[in-house]
Amino acid sequence: MEHIFPDFDKMVSRKEKEQRLGQRSKVIWFTGLSGSGKTTLATALERYLFNHGFLSQILDGDNIRSGINNNLGFSTEDRIENIRRIAEISKLLVNSGLICICAFVSPTEETRKIVRDIIGKDDFLEVYVSTPIEICESRDIKGLYQKARAGLIKDFTGISAPFEIPQNAILSIDTSNKSIEDCLTIMLDKLLSEISDQR
Ligand code: ADX
Repeated sequence: MEHIFPDFDKMVSRKEKEQRLGQRSKVIWFTGLSGSGKTTLATALERYLFNHGFLSQILDGDNIRSGINNNLGFSTEDRIENIRRIAEISKLLVNSGLICICAFVSPTEETRKIVRDIIGKDDFLEVYVSTPIEICESRDIKGLYQKARAGLIKDFTGISAPFEIPQNAILSIDTSNKSIEDCLTIMLDKLLSEISDQR
C-alpha cells in the first residue's frame, strides 16, 4: 500500500524548489562605489522579475548592516566579515530556489573572491556598476562623500579606501549616462537566460 505521506524521509531538493518556482536560482551580485546605483538597479531588476513571475530577494546595506551585521564597521576585517556573512545568507537563499539580488560595495577582489568561493562560481553572477566616482560624489545622496572629504569618515571607499575594478564581472553598467529603462534592458539581456527555467 502506498504510504499516506510519500517521500517523507527525503529532503526537498533545491532542484525541486526551482521547479516549483519555475526559475533557476542564482546570486546576482552588484558591486560598485557608494552612490553608483547598485540598489536602484537591484530594485528595478527585482520589480521586473516579480512582474514576470520570478521570485527573488534583495540583500543590501539597509537590511543587512542594520540587522544581522549591525556589529560591523568598515575596517578591512569588518568588510570581509560583512561580505562573508552575506555570501552565506545568499547561499541559503539560493538553495531555497530564490534568485538572490545583492547590492554591496564589496570593494576588493579579495572580498569578491570570498563570495565566489562560498556561493560557487556557477551560481554567482557579478555585475559591476561602473559609474565614475565624480558622478557618485556629485550625487552624494547620503552626504557621505562630503563628510569623507572633510575627514569625518575614515576609510571611505573611493576617497580614503580602495575600490578595485572587478576582473570577473559578466556585465558592467555605468548609470551616469543611461535611464533606468536602458539599464534594465542591458541587465535583462545578459541575465534572463541565466535564471530562466529551460526545461
Ligand atoms: S562593504 O564595503 O562592506 O561591501 P557595504 O555595501 O556593506 O560596504 O556598505 C556600504 C555603504 O555604507 C555605503 O553605501 C555607505 O552608504 C555606507 N558607508 C558608511 N561608511 C562607509 C565607508 N567608510 N566606506 C564605504 N561605505 C560606507
